[in-house]
Amino acid sequence: MIKKPAAKAAPVAAPEETTKKKIKTPQVIRGMRDILPEDEPYWRHAYETAQRVADAYGFSRIETPIVEPEELFVRSVGKASDIVEKEMYSFQDSDGDKICLRPEVTASLCRAYIANGMFAKPQPQKLWVWGPMFRHDRPQAGRYRQFYQADFEIIGNASPIVDAQVILLTWTFFKELGINAEIRINSIGSPEDRTRYKMELVQWYRTRKKELCENCLKRLVKNPLRLLDCKEAGCRALRADAPQILDWLSAPSKAHFMAVLEYLDELEIPYFLDPFIVRGLDYYTHTVFEFVANDADDSKAQIALCGGGRYDLLVEQLGGKPTAACGVAPGIDRAVLAMKAQNVVPPAQPKPQIFVAQLGEQGRRRAIALYEKLRQAGFVLTEAFSKESLKTQLDSANEKGVPFVLLVGQREVMDNTVIIRDMESGNQEVVDYHKIVSEMKKKV
Ligand code: HAM
Repeated sequence: MIKKPAAKAAPVAAPEETTKKKIKTPQVIRGMRDILPEDEPYWRHAYETAQRVADAYGFSRIETPIVEPEELFVRSVGKASDIVEKEMYSFQDSDGDKICLRPEVTASLCRAYIANGMFAKPQPQKLWVWGPMFRHDRPQAGRYRQFYQADFEIIGNASPIVDAQVILLTWTFFKELGINAEIRINSIGSPEDRTRYKMELVQWYRTRKKELCENCLKRLVKNPLRLLDCKEAGCRALRADAPQILDWLSAPSKAHFMAVLEYLDELEIPYFLDPFIVRGLDYYTHTVFEFVANDADDSKAQIALCGGGRYDLLVEQLGGKPTAACGVAPGIDRAVLAMKAQNVVPPAQPKPQIFVAQLGEQGRRRAIALYEKLRQAGFVLTEAFSKESLKTQLDSANEKGVPFVLLVGQREVMDNTVIIRDMESGNQEVVDYHKIVSEMKKKV
């Protein structure tokens, strides 16, 4: 007897095969973000303004690597600074080198100045950079872990007019962006002035330890100037009576600072003397300043739109010859926030003048060539080549407010013509394909 083969059981899918796996999209890293096309007009306005201001004041653009030796910032920004202590993206690469994502770029520019022999060129060297910086800070409004700076440096001159030029450039930058900002300025003198002042400051705060926040108790030992920079309400109230550095400046330091202020007076640039601006980076000497947005609520700790100042010892500390310098870095993310808060309308981009429409495959092939012909002649164009329906294309042209539609279908390809449609009047005319550039020049 021939046995009937046992019916094969239908394969049973494993449960995970029947339910489609949900694929997780990797998330953007905390404190980092995508800057979307809707914000592009603000970013473009910021970049174009930075470029224009740099050109107007004679700065040359330079690019330095985003990755630098960690040591560069430890030696310049300072071991006890928040940046180096807590915020650096540092790691060891596969060669065993300790590298980091740059938290700022002043130190990079000084490294580049020395390494590329710029000290041998006419002084001072005026350099500017645009790009991302990285700090593993606590994210909040206006504080990101990847953020952008425009950075302007004048390296190779100790005159107070250089400080004033840097401030003037920054003033112009924010003014041309349409941001109403105010300047907070101070001098932290020479290292000798600061040593004397710090002794006085520590003595004063020691008797008031109970009123200090935990962070400031550490600062009292490690970095006493930062006591003045604390954002805690209690510490802010206390500092109002603390000794002020301006009273501890030597005569030459005072003269330098007065000269800077006189230049600003001459330029009619208003400023506020702020004895609590000490800056969180170790390399500063003499003039230090920040700009804050004028719309900011005074009861809160205001966030700085930019920070800058003189750093006469940094080049030497990094192995160069003694070289005085001064610079500033406007924060672009914060500039964009300020533009929005102050209802700045960034300049509009040129509107398309012509919509190129097509019908059928032959028409589409001619249309892409027609677009190119007109683009090369300098017209601003738009299209919807991926759409087939003429109605959809005309709707799209209408939506974009384009004054003229050029249409090519099979017939026009055969006749070597193009239909010009005036979108306002609805009038149409047929013109020779080879004369289209001159025809359109008459119309737009
Ligand atoms: P900074 O004060 O550390 O100075 O930074 C300058 C500006 O960058 C700040 O005023 C702020 O607008 C922006 N910024 C800083 N951290 C963040 C963040 N986490 N998120 C968003 N924006 C931020 C410097 O970096 C110095 N290198 C400035 C300088 C140039 N000094 C002399 N030359």
